[in-house]
Amino acid sequence: MSRRFGVAWFALVPLLLAALAVGGVLFLRQGGFAPYRVPAGATHPLTATPEQVGRGEYIARLGICATCHTTRGGVPFTGGRAFATGYGTIHSTNLTPDAQTGLGGWSVEEFRHTMRNGVSRHGVLYPVFPYAHFALLRDDDLDALFAYLQQLPATARAPTPNRLEFPASWRPALVAWRMLHYQPATPDGGAGESPQQRRGRYLVDGLGHCAMCHGARRSMGSLPAAGYLAGGRIPGLGWYAPPLDAQQLRRYSTAELADYLRSGTSPHGTVYGPMAEVVYGSLRHLTPDDALAMAVFLKSVPAHVAVPNSAEPAAGPNRDADSGADLYKRHCEDCHARDGRGTDKGPPLVDAVAVTAPDPANAVRMILYGAMPPTTAGNPRPHSMPPFVQQLDSAEIAAVANHIRMTWGDRHSNLSAGDIDALHGIDVD
Ligand code: HEC
Ligand code: HEC
Ligand code: HEC
Repeated sequence: MSRRFGVAWFALVPLLLAALAVGGVLFLRQGGFAPYRVPAGATHPLTATPEQVGRGEYIARLGICATCHTTRGGVPFTGGRAFATGYGTIHSTNLTPDAQTGLGGWSVEEFRHTMRNGVSRHGVLYPVFPYAHFALLRDDDLDALFAYLQQLPATARAPTPNRLEFPASWRPALVAWRMLHYQPATPDGGAGESPQQRRGRYLVDGLGHCAMCHGARRSMGSLPAAGYLAGGRIPGLGWYAPPLDAQQLRRYSTAELADYLRSGTSPHGTVYGPMAEVVYGSLRHLTPDDALAMAVFLKSVPAHVAVPNSAEPAAGPNRDADSGADLYKRHCEDCHARDGRGTDKGPPLVDAVAVTAPDPANAVRMILYGAMPPTTAGNPRPHSMPPFVQQLDSAEIAAVANHIRMTWGDRHSNLSAGDIDALHGIDVD
């Protein structure tokens, strides 16, 4: 008995050593867990020039920092916005130079380290903060960003406590998540790309962190390389973000796509939901050159293989095709036109994101709640989509959603009143 135990024990030694080695490599790769701090006095002083501050402001806009780091109606950059995740609610922090509650007393080294590694003087940060993307930012861009943030009015705002479940509530537990799911970004691609494409890639992958919403996620919120810009339901927001690639964006010419990013509108569609916020908070500030670089890059991303979506209703005969067509005629045709090609009051539905998506969430939410595109220089008086939640019942909304998705999205769509009720209850941000 004891001898057999001894043999088994020895057999386990190499396995244990291998597990320790793998664990050690993963631990080192994700960067440890110690809080990171370099006192401001101990570092090279950052003497900001007005040019640097101006560039920092542009970078902050493209990084969508203020949108995430401001509550509705709050002082910009003072934090407190809530983000719902699968494991609880996280709040953003104060980025103004207030000494107690913000970035007052931070050194530029500490800022660079936090932006690239997701580890600050407060320890390991939650990945709602898109540090894996910001890791791609160049030193001079991060320094300009820091110079801009440091000259904002210092405003005290005590942090809003997070409401997280254990073990996510314990910051060091994030190390386990990072060991399994976090890969420090490495500037990749670039070979064979034009300077314009490379600039576009830098803006899309780094500052713009477009894959935060447009990437396909695995369990635990990780963004595997295979899901890069492959599209999917955005966790915590209940909207579907389409893939971004040559196939999805074929309806836009490169110039139209560049213009869409800045204005939020185009002959092929208008932004809504979280994308409206991205255009308003960030992309409307793009220079024409940067918008064109992003469009050129996005249209060069190879098409993704369509992924079947579990949110798609099972195939089956469509119950109420006639009532769907009739409801469309009565309630929608005026703005979206009989043939679905749109009017000056409403965008086309033919090939629109909401009708071609494997996930019906956008179509249903638009019909339920309506939307208003952001006001931009290129779209100064946007037309809005009225809400139908008071006018139509769930069965009618299902019928009209099925009608537009089958007619102009080339999809099978068999939503029932129950599916509408389920989407009705989804989280709004
Ligand atoms: C998608 C939303 C989002 C965006 C975009 C975003 N942040 Fe954050 N950021 C957060 C959240 C949430 C936290 C808090 C994370 C935590 O507590 O672990 C955070 C934390 C930080 C921290 C750490 C602060 C500390 O005291 O430890 C810094 C610095 C920071 N963000 C800077 C920026 C800058 C600069 C930008 C723009 C380039 C930016 N963030 C864009 C959500 C965001
Ligand atoms: C907060 C989530 C979010 C972020 C971040 C985001 N998007 Fe979107 N995006 C969406 C959603 C949702 C849609 C679908 C609704 C719509 O069409 O407006 C969308 C739609 C789009 C479309 C329209 C696609 C089509 O077929 O018409 C383009 C283009 C686009 N996004 C580009 C970008 C780029 C470039 C970035 C990065 C700078 C980005 N998005 C960042 C959520 C996001
Ligand atoms: C008063 C004009 C108007 C009416 C009536 C109207 N819409 Fe819209 N619709 C719009 C506008 C404007 C938008 C773009 C809104 C935005 O981008 O914020 C839109 C957007 C949409 C979208 C999103 C398209 C995309 O690009 O993904 C869908 C789906 C939609 N409408 C369906 C309907 C249906 C179904 C009806 C009838 C039940 C209807 N609309 C009635 C004006 C209208």
